[in-house]
Amino acid sequence: MSTGKRFKIASIGAGNVGASVAQYCLEEELGDVVLTDIVEGLPQGKALDLTEAGPIRGYSSQCIGTNDYKDIEGCDVAVVTAGLPRKPGMTRLDLLEKNGRIVSGICENIKKYAPDATVIIVTNPLDVMVYLAQKKLGFPPERVIGMAGCLDSARMRSFVAMELGVSMKNVDTMVLGSHGDDMVPLPHYTTVSGIPITKLLPQEKIDAIVDRTRKGGGEIVALLKTGSAFYAPGASAVRMVQSIIRDEKQLLPCAAYLNGQYGLSDIYMGVPCVLGKDGVEQILELEISDADRTSLHQSAQEVRTGIDELKSIGIL
Ligand code: APR
Repeated sequence: MSTGKRFKIASIGAGNVGASVAQYCLEEELGDVVLTDIVEGLPQGKALDLTEAGPIRGYSSQCIGTNDYKDIEGCDVAVVTAGLPRKPGMTRLDLLEKNGRIVSGICENIKKYAPDATVIIVTNPLDVMVYLAQKKLGFPPERVIGMAGCLDSARMRSFVAMELGVSMKNVDTMVLGSHGDDMVPLPHYTTVSGIPITKLLPQEKIDAIVDRTRKGGGEIVALLKTGSAFYAPGASAVRMVQSIIRDEKQLLPCAAYLNGQYGLSDIYMGVPCVLGKDGVEQILELEISDADRTSLHQSAQEVRTGIDELKSIGIL
């Protein structure tokens, strides 16, 4: 690493996504990892297991597991995946309340032990949770970022590659908006080695890819039956960690705090961001069609409903 600094990454929540975050950070040698959870033994067990994989996978970064937030002290980046999944019989508002309380509590600890960290929120409902986290942390908004667009655009990249029979590495996509059925995939900004997909695929195939991207999370849940996706979400969060820690200035779709961009203010939404050592260092405002702008504003409305609900139950 060019700076010679040994970085520290906190992965808060040692469930499926949190453990994947730890694994990919270790494999990329991004820094030492502190895996944190409320369940005793879980983060310790996973951290030890990951440590024991080190000699084979060839990494030497350290990984510890803990139930004590003091151990995240001074971390450079904190990735928050802690939360409950939606269970049968649970309303959307129940989930919002439960995860809202979990994220609020975690933010208190991040504020106490790692006031200079850049924080990446993964817990769903993402756009609302990242807004809540920024308000609770009181950190500059560029240091509190939501992971969603990276995952949604990775899904779209794989679907385009599968359809065309080309390498996924050659496909670039951009997805705006909130994380969920209201997201706004942008086929006009989707290319294969520089060639717009509008020149490579008929409209009905593009529409099907857009639809599959929107429902990408649900597709995995339907297959797994007892949980939700974790490899691609973990990998997506780690791509963001990497760009921040190595100051790579990657242009990635992330949920960022908007202050007038795309005609939206005081809200977190998925937009193209340049990520570097200072977090979100730039937000790009793309030219988009009227229809995409309308969809973006509709998806913002959904997010505002969630924020209002958090306010109505006194969490915000
Ligand atoms: N502090 C720390 N960890 C907590 C807390 C808390 N207050 N509350 C819950 N957790 C932990 C749980 O003990 C569990 O180990 O969060 C972990 C969540 O892990 P999983 O249930 O496996 O969920 P996962 O699949 O990892 O998803 C986590 O990411 O993609 C999103 O929608 C997903 O919101 C969900 C989150």
